[in-house]
Amino acid sequence: IRRITVPAITSRKGSDPIVSLTSYHAHTAAIVDKFADFILVGDSLGMVMHGMETTVGVPLDLMIMHGRAVVRGTRRALIVVDMPFGSYEESPQIAFRNAARIMKETGCGAVKLEGGARMAETIRFLTERGIPVMAHIGLTPQSSHVMGGFKTQGRDEESWAAHQADAAAVADAGAFALVLEGMVEPLAARITAEIAIPTIGIGASVECDGQILVLEDMLGLNPTPPKFVKVYGDLLGQIERAVEQYADDVRSRSFPTEDQVYR
Ligand code: KIV
Ligand code: NA
Repeated sequence: IRRITVPAITSRKGSDPIVSLTSYHAHTAAIVDKFADFILVGDSLGMVMHGMETTVGVPLDLMIMHGRAVVRGTRRALIVVDMPFGSYEESPQIAFRNAARIMKETGCGAVKLEGGARMAETIRFLTERGIPVMAHIGLTPQSSHVMGGFKTQGRDEESWAAHQADAAAVADAGAFALVLEGMVEPLAARITAEIAIPTIGIGASVECDGQILVLEDMLGLNPTPPKFVKVYGDLLGQIERAVEQYADDVRSRSFPTEDQVYR
């Protein structure tokens, strides 16, 4: 395996922080590949790229299509592809069939799925059969209809024990890393201290073993980013200015000019 491996990610627990971003395309993935340890082809692509209100409607084939593009555009980072809603919850067998399709058809190195203790049996089933699994607990967007929206987790201390049990269960089942999403800092810190696999935070504080953000959010393409996003770019403004300039140039016949014309 030429890329950063699953065991290499797991062995970073407690040492230098793990760097990750999402990507859905060959061109952005090639840039992220220079800096990230792993790249997640997240099912957030349904909302970010395809205008869906939640991730619930994302089809397996769409994940495979974007996953393949990201694998093609990269050579260094580990590529992790999200299993979409409905493709893994029913049984370990169905989860294996769909995860195997994702691995074979995209060339990715691992899959991610949402859920804690209830998914432990499936995580063990996949891992024992050659499919590395990244787990994801806390705010799990695929359950947003049950949770009544995208809700920060762990605000009342009584709820912590269940999250801690979820983290322990997925780690014990063989997950190689664990995404903690939308969770208060002291809970993320406690989970990170309690389990032997790295935690990857998104809206879960600097206490995690690594961080992930949605690339479009941190680049400034989302006009209303969540509180936990640090915005490093102004792509929205740059694209708007470029498109406006182009429209002006076409209307004023100042594009194309000599430089762009075949003689
Ligand atoms: O779909 C996604 O982008 C994710 C993360 C941001 C962790 O699951
Ligand atoms: Na996701």
